[in-house]
Amino acid sequence: MSLESIAERFPRSLVLPGGEKVEIRMMTAADREPMLSFARHLPQKDLMFLRVDLTEESVVDAWVEALGTGHSTSLVAYDDDGLIGYATVHRNPAPWTRRVGEIRVNVSPTYRNKGLGRNLTSQIFDVARELGLKKLMANMTTDQHSAQAAFRRLGFVPEALLADYVEDRRGTSHDLVIMSYDIDGHSDQVAEPLRV
Ligand SMILES: CC(C)(COP(=O)(O)OP(=O)(O)OC[C@H]1O[C@@H](n2cnc3c(N)ncnc32)[C@H](O)[C@@H]1OP(=O)(O)O)[C@@H](O)C(=O)NCCC(=O)NCCS
Repeated sequence: MSLESIAERFPRSLVLPGGEKVEIRMMTAADREPMLSFARHLPQKDLMFLRVDLTEESVVDAWVEALGTGHSTSLVAYDDDGLIGYATVHRNPAPWTRRVGEIRVNVSPTYRNKGLGRNLTSQIFDVARELGLKKLMANMTTDQHSAQAAFRRLGFVPEALLADYVEDRRGTSHDLVIMSYDIDGHSDQVAEPLRV
């Protein structure tokens, strides 16, 4: 399925279980400023674990460029006051990993635990499936306990643990957990999930 036909399904309105009204859009260049503002309002501890520094204009510009090449396909969530979260799937152009996408989900602290992450994740799963992806990976550090718990609830399993792989903004190293989700059911290639 083409990106154009996926884009036709957006924007979509939804009401979270707590009654908050949210709109989900496909990310475009128009979301550049709202994304910078979202990132610049994240608490330090969240910024510390972002894979790339979304407070930097050049980083958001590179993301917007990746939307154009199709390496990234992203959904953004808005309330009346601005951007409150995103879910993105990134495809690696190397042919031998063409079945795999990396997803990143980030929800504003004021909206956490209200069902927005689950909704964005479910919608990005649909997008990934339509892009022909078979397996999704999510990377986080072992100390991101809430994110790991949330991703388990979303059906991801820990699949690999890489020691001292991540260096945060302060120069401290962290172990990386790679969690995965097999879009069409769990692969028989996957060994017993790791316990981390
Ligand atoms: C991970 C994250 C996206 C979850 O978003 P969210 O909007 O809070 O998630 P939801 O409210 O939709 O919850 C999804 C599920 O996870 C569970 N969950 C959410 N936060 C949790 C926590 N801190 N501990 C345990 N479970 C949690 C919810 O109960 C829910 O499960 P259920 O529907 O079966 O009850 C959000 O915490 C976040 O943005 N974290 C920072 C960014 C990050 O670390 N991303 C992960 C790396 S890509």
